[in-house]
Amino acid sequence: MAIKYVPYFPETIDGQAILNNFTRTQRFLKYKDNDGVYNSIAKGMPLYEMESIEKVGENKDNNLVIRGECLSACAYLKEKDIKVDLVYIDPPFASGADYAKKVYIRRNPKVDEAIKKAETELNNDDLKAFEEKMYGDVWNKEAYLNWMYENLLAIKSVMSETASIYVHLDWHIGHYVKILMDEIFGEDNFRNEIVWCYTGVTPSPRAFQQKHDDIYRYSKSNEFLYNPQYVPYKGLHATNVVSHGSNKIADPEETKKLLERGKPVEDWWIDIYTVDRVRKEIADYATQKPEALLERIIKASSNEGMIVADFFGGSGVTATVAHKLKRKFITCDVGINSIQTMRDRLVANKAEFEILEVKDGVSLYRNPQQTMDKLKSLIQGLKNEDGLDKFWEGSIQDSKYGMMPVYIPNLLEGTGRILDTRLVNEIIHNALPDLPENVKKVIVFYIDIDDKKAVDEFIKEQNDTEIEIEFRDLKELLSEVVVDDDVDYEITNNEIVINHFSSDRVQQKIDEYNDKMQAQAIKKGTEYKPLTISGEGLELIEFISLDCTNAEGTWNSDSEIKVEKNNYVTINGEKTKSYWDGKISFNKKPLRMKIRNICGDETIIVIKEQI
Ligand SMILES: C[S@@+](CC[C@H](N)C(=O)[O-])C[C@H]1O[C@@H](n2cnc3c(N)ncnc32)[C@H](O)[C@@H]1O
Repeated sequence: MAIKYVPYFPETIDGQAILNNFTRTQRFLKYKDNDGVYNSIAKGMPLYEMESIEKVGENKDNNLVIRGECLSACAYLKEKDIKVDLVYIDPPFASGADYAKKVYIRRNPKVDEAIKKAETELNNDDLKAFEEKMYGDVWNKEAYLNWMYENLLAIKSVMSETASIYVHLDWHIGHYVKILMDEIFGEDNFRNEIVWCYTGVTPSPRAFQQKHDDIYRYSKSNEFLYNPQYVPYKGLHATNVVSHGSNKIADPEETKKLLERGKPVEDWWIDIYTVDRVRKEIADYATQKPEALLERIIKASSNEGMIVADFFGGSGVTATVAHKLKRKFITCDVGINSIQTMRDRLVANKAEFEILEVKDGVSLYRNPQQTMDKLKSLIQGLKNEDGLDKFWEGSIQDSKYGMMPVYIPNLLEGTGRILDTRLVNEIIHNALPDLPENVKKVIVFYIDIDDKKAVDEFIKEQNDTEIEIEFRDLKELLSEVVVDDDVDYEITNNEIVINHFSSDRVQQKIDEYNDKMQAQAIKKGTEYKPLTISGEGLELIEFISLDCTNAEGTWNSDSEIKVEKNNYVTINGEKTKSYWDGKISFNKKPLRMKIRNICGDETIIVIKEQI
């Protein structure tokens, strides 16, 4: 008998896994009180219309770059019966950070001298760059794991029977995802936990430096491809290996063979540097991974001609390396900056591919994060309301109805944006009863309605409150505010000269940035010199492409220039050491011109002029 019973630590900490939350039966995890994810899995992957945006080259291998969410990309592949042989994903890590893109204002070819002078007087970066948010990686664990569960199930459904998957994460959430993967792929199909170590200093005075990522490798079945990888032996290691650590004298022939072959790569990788140390690879994409990492993975788990997929493509590293190693590729990302970075990188590497866009309504703005940030300011009259539950985004005052609470779907969470009976049920039974008594009407924004008739009937039957529910389509609101950029040009028989360019969207970002920096400077008692744009505005242009083949539909880039952030111009994918001269040339009459501003918005102009 125990002498006495010592109390456990009495209370669980917020967010801590409670044991009875997990019941482990027959290797399955059950999540208590949350069947949302099961319902949406039972419903299936959302398949949307796809629009072919651009075709680069003949694309005989059917390489794809998909702008949209992983789930919709998988739905499309499944529908088309396309199976992939290897998957690498490096999804958001739930790192709690927001990732920003540094936007570089280019040199204006019309005021070359003035810029040159200014550059010698001011620090390059201060003069020419500002930041904008690309994607947010702030999650609560449960939402992240539910989201990841759906994504992994979708990915598994498009993997061939012999395919492998590598999921790249770190200490933030990797160990939880490992458990999900055990469930989805089966513990028996777990192959490796790879630890990728790198160097650098992070400010963590109360912890060991966190300098590794975890990559979980699973196969779809027991029949999987694995090509062992080798690195050169260093020093005496080879002889040790041959003699197996015993006192046996190593056989010189065997030693020679092993030395030539190299040492089998272990599951901890210390020989692959981060991108900031392999500078020539830098694509200016936050969280970009090095090509050497993908090279090892792709060589180990695929052969030439196989399809390599990455559903969180970022800078396009997987597709680029797959192409270099003569594999086919399918890559996807939800952000327009990622798609443009991949596109330009793949063009520079002479890859052929097609860009498809998922028409799900979320890609309306540059990325869901920016759309979310923008939404509140777009809804006229919307203001914060302290007395309301956080389910509501705020409220609008109306002369007839008084205060009307407003719901906006979370575009960052896959299932949240669909208006279905599940959401209406939550509104009617949880959200409406908690509202103050004087509320007569609420406004619910949606991106997609699952079944409008079912939703209306559900409300009729179940809403026994006096509160009216008004639905509004978010897509209409967003399409109203996306204003194209303005361009003024002249056309001759072999070139287009750009005289003037203006972009309210970029100007707004610059104004916001100037205001922020100004406020910081005042606080610090320093001086801030605001970023200004010339009258011609050509420094806001990043890329121009001419389509001389199609007057509408899929884009065909017959001539293109890209003004790199160092101001050198890349012409048709070939880097040069020249500055842009404000022109683009062509061999055949252009039918359309596409201009991408430095933030990534694209404007298409139909060319009507006779040459
Ligand atoms: C860590 S980054 C990938 C970086 C990439 N491996 C590289 O080396 O450049 C994660 C990417 O996932 C994208 N993303 C976030 N949610 C997504 C979703 N639901 N579907 C597809 N892509 C998504 C983000 O836009 C971001 O580019």
